[in-house]
Amino acid sequence: MNNAKVLKQIIEQRRSIFPKDYSATEISQEILDEILHSVTFAPNHKRTRPWRFKLFRGEGKTKLASEMQAIYKATQPEQLFLEKKYNDIGFKINKADAIVSIVVNFSGMVPEWEEIAAVSMAVQNMYLSCTANNIGCYWSSPKIVDHLKESLTIEENQKCLGLFYMGNLK
Ligand SMILES: Cc1cc2nc3c(=O)[nH]c(=O)nc-3n(C[C@H](O)[C@H](O)[C@H](O)COP(=O)(O)O)c2cc1C
Repeated sequence: MNNAKVLKQIIEQRRSIFPKDYSATEISQEILDEILHSVTFAPNHKRTRPWRFKLFRGEGKTKLASEMQAIYKATQPEQLFLEKKYNDIGFKINKADAIVSIVVNFSGMVPEWEEIAAVSMAVQNMYLSCTANNIGCYWSSPKIVDHLKESLTIEENQKCLGLFYMGNLK
């Protein structure tokens, strides 16, 4: 297949695939490195490279799950708290083999929307790299990521835009 056909196939095959459909096997380090490397090729105005992505696996991922659950509990009015939702947050994070926090850094050199656009293109690169490597993935953007403090160091000029879940397919 020529390059154009391969690219067309990968773009058309890309889907959001959720943690319930991930297997318990680990993504190989080589593939994970390739997915993260793809981020650096996203176009970005004035070379601000606004992506600040952090990888969570193993113990770091377990702590992220606990923090997300604690935030949900703390920010939800008691009468709206749902045990199922609380458990689901933990289930999804535990089921994913690797999670990347999607944080944008606003440099002040270009409008904020341009930095968000560049970060989104970086996420698309990860999506396409996952597809090409048969890895399930999706961008999750719950409100509670605004409160992440222990797992992430968010500076004044930065914002967390969500989490990118990854796992081998069943
Ligand atoms: C910026 C952004 C945020 C998203 N946030 C969520 C989310 O919080 N929860 C979710 O289930 N899917 C989320 N998605 C994934 C979309 O639901 C998904 O892309 C859409 O349903 C189309 O499906 P596809 O990716 O398979 O084409 C997000 C996608 C984008 C681009």
